[in-house]
Amino acid sequence: MTARIIDGKQIAMRIRCELQQKISLLPQTPHLAIVLVGNDDSSLIYVRNKQKAAAEIGLKTTLFHLSETTAEEELLSLIDRCNNDSAINGIIVQLPLPAHINTHRIIDRISPLKDVDGFHPYNTGMLQNNEKPYFIAATPLGIMTLIKEVCPDLCGKNVVLIGASLIVGRPLATLMLNQECTVSITHIHTQNIQDLTRKADILIAACGVAKLVKADWIKPDSILIDVGINRADGKICGDIDYDDVLGKAAAVTPVPGGVGPMTIAMLLQNTYDAFIIQHQPL
Ligand code: GUN
Repeated sequence: MTARIIDGKQIAMRIRCELQQKISLLPQTPHLAIVLVGNDDSSLIYVRNKQKAAAEIGLKTTLFHLSETTAEEELLSLIDRCNNDSAINGIIVQLPLPAHINTHRIIDRISPLKDVDGFHPYNTGMLQNNEKPYFIAATPLGIMTLIKEVCPDLCGKNVVLIGASLIVGRPLATLMLNQECTVSITHIHTQNIQDLTRKADILIAACGVAKLVKADWIKPDSILIDVGINRADGKICGDIDYDDVLGKAAAVTPVPGGVGPMTIAMLLQNTYDAFIIQHQPL
């Protein structure tokens, strides 16, 4: 038996088509403000991909591209302007920001109602309280959507996460806990990590180490989600050794074509939702 391949590209395409349809019925075009400070190579690519994907489904984007030396106060006043502009529905500040800027101070300034990245403490706090936030961060939300495709009932499942980042590991752990899973979050200081991963019904690797997870790390018939994007031997690969686990797992996400396309689809979904939330009668 070989594992089922969870085709994130196809699922993301389906979501984008549905969004395009729904957006075409709106009286106005939802509008996403993207703030980019500096010229980090990866950030430039991510931002371009977000703009392209948005345009394809009829979402408007405005890029505010500021210089590397932009002062924190200047960035805060741009956020204030976007917050107060009723024609802007969603705001994202591409991370990482230059070292002289306090990232938390910037994120905290975004209106929770426009925080389509789901990073504002109001939204993360609501998730933590198992209440409904306005927005959930795109990558965790995309991963939940992929897992639900192969495992609709998560109650009681043993979930192990490799990586405790603010953008992926921690919010995802909370989402899984809210679905009644038993969750372990591992990180670089975790001892005997394989004792944990071998018990995982669902294993999520988000640590940025190429092909770390081998077949002998996993439980037979487990679901494997690979968030890593690494370069090894001139090729893109994930944190899971895909070829090694294929004969043992029940389902696995490929890299590329698994989690990556879902992240953009969920950002678009959040921007559509922002428009709807802001146009609801009070
Ligand atoms: N940098 C890496 N991932 C993300 C993301 O999801 N949102 C933003 N704003 N920046 C990022």
